[in-house]
Amino acid sequence: MTRRTFLGWWLASLMTATVVTAVAPILVFFWPARPKGQKEGPIMVGLQTPIDQLQDGSVTQILAPTSPNSAFIMADGGGDNAKGELAFGAFVVKDQGKVTVFAQNCSHLGCSVAFNTDAKTLDCPCHGSRFRLDGSVLHGPAAAPLSHLTWKQGPKPNELEVEGIVLGF
Ligand code: FES
Repeated sequence: MTRRTFLGWWLASLMTATVVTAVAPILVFFWPARPKGQKEGPIMVGLQTPIDQLQDGSVTQILAPTSPNSAFIMADGGGDNAKGELAFGAFVVKDQGKVTVFAQNCSHLGCSVAFNTDAKTLDCPCHGSRFRLDGSVLHGPAAAPLSHLTWKQGPKPNELEVEGIVLGF
């Protein structure tokens, strides 16, 4: 190997190492690795009322279990929410005969919305956004609807299986 060839390989190796060192943190930021022990799958949540007996216009808050620590996974989203993001609470809404589960995260900046029993809306305490029971925006600043969660009925009439993840810490 000549000195010129050796220097060429040495410079190429140095440049490759520099690029990898610079790019790796950016890749990890956009595609973070899930720590070991986390498991995606349905999370069982019990309601007081069987799902097929929920009243039209009813809204029931559910929380992801904390033992072990779990979260729901958004099926879609806009604004501050996106498909695959986590929600630690949700609302089971029966509206016009249809049962839907929405993540509680406001699509503006992620605060938790609350059910307004008088107006029958889901209202955000942070900047005043309001959502209809079909998840659409009634009042901004939020511009995108609430995120849906994927769910199906569990083995018992009052059980929901909601797509989620066991975080395990
Ligand atoms: S976070 Fe809900 S209105 Fe801003």
